[in-house]
Order: sequence, then structure tokens, then C-alpha cells
Amino acid sequence: MTSFTEKKFLIPSLTGISAKTIEEHLKLYAGYVKHANLIIEAVAQLKKQSDVPAHAYALAEVQRRFGFEYNGIRNHEVYFASLEGGAKELPTSSTLRETITTTWGSFDAWLTEFKALAMTRGIGWAMLYYDRKENQLLHAWIDEQHLGQLQDCSLILALDMWEHSFVADYQPSGKKKYVEDFFSNLNWEVIEKNFSDLK
Ligand SMILES: [Fe+2]
Repeated sequence: MTSFTEKKFLIPSLTGISAKTIEEHLKLYAGYVKHANLIIEAVAQLKKQSDVPAHAYALAEVQRRFGFEYNGIRNHEVYFASLEGGAKELPTSSTLRETITTTWGSFDAWLTEFKALAMTRGIGWAMLYYDRKENQLLHAWIDEQHLGQLQDCSLILALDMWEHSFVADYQPSGKKKYVEDFFSNLNWEVIEKNFSDLK
């Protein structure tokens, strides 16, 4: 398995979410890259001695954690990329808007539902996916970085609802305002491209 490389993101000044929060958050993203690579190295080492029972057990435990680190990389890459380039609206003529409207009745109906999803208690992510098998959009709550990820679906939009994303700027009680500000900062052109690249 090849190792992972940390991507760089140019995040402009945002509404509500401070530069310091983004700076610290990018360090956490770098940590997922580092730890995914550490797992790859650890697996390679432990496999050489897997006839030792303790090593076989350690190998299994290390492998079990890979999904957490890997999804931590990919989730954050979609999140940070969607905040690059400044806020841009989703054009009324866009294929993504039309698909959302067909699926949920209206764009605003989807947005209301998605914002409620983001308020799920606990740490995790609110995600919008494209289900290639059924050619449909789905949204789902993901615990941690990986628990509940939808098999064979592609990530279109990722909203980080771990407390490190917002507590320094909003306090725990300001979670709802963070969700509102995320959408006011969102570059929908990036989200539209995530979708159109799959079609
Ligand atoms: Fe995060």
C-alpha cells in the first residue's frame, strides 16, 4: 500500500470560523495522514512476525483502526476544499440543484433536513453522497470518521461536526450557528464539481 500525502488548502477569511480554528483543524487533518501512514508501516512490520501470537493480535488491532484514519483524511479533504475560493451559490440551473429538488421537493427542504441531520448528538459528520448504483443522492450521519459510511457511495458534501470544528469560536451551545455559518461560507461550485465529476 502506498503512503498518503498531506494536501494543502488555501482557506480565505470565513464568517464565524476563525483563522486559528482552521489552522488548528488543518493540524488535525495532518494527524490523520500521519497516522494512516503509521498504520501502513506498523502492518508491514507486524506481518513479518505474525506467527508470534501477541504480534498477530497487535496486527489485528492496528488494522481495525485503519478505517478511522483513512476516512479522517478523505472527510477532511472534502470539507476543507469546500471552503476554498470563497462563498459561491449553487446556480439555479445546476444539475446538482435540479437533482436535490427532484429528490427532496425543493432545495430549501433538503437544506432544512440536512441542517437538522448536522445537529445529531455526538461527534461525527453530516454527509451528502451520490449513490452510483441507484443514481440517487443520499445524506447520512457518520459517527467518528467512519462508522456508518455508505458503501460504494461517493462523498459530495462533508460537514465536520466534531467539537474541534466549532467550539473555540462558538462554544458548545453555538453548534447551530456554526452549521448556519458553514453554509454561508460554502463554495457550492466545488460541491457541484464533486457531483458532476461522477456523472
Ligand atoms: Fe475535523
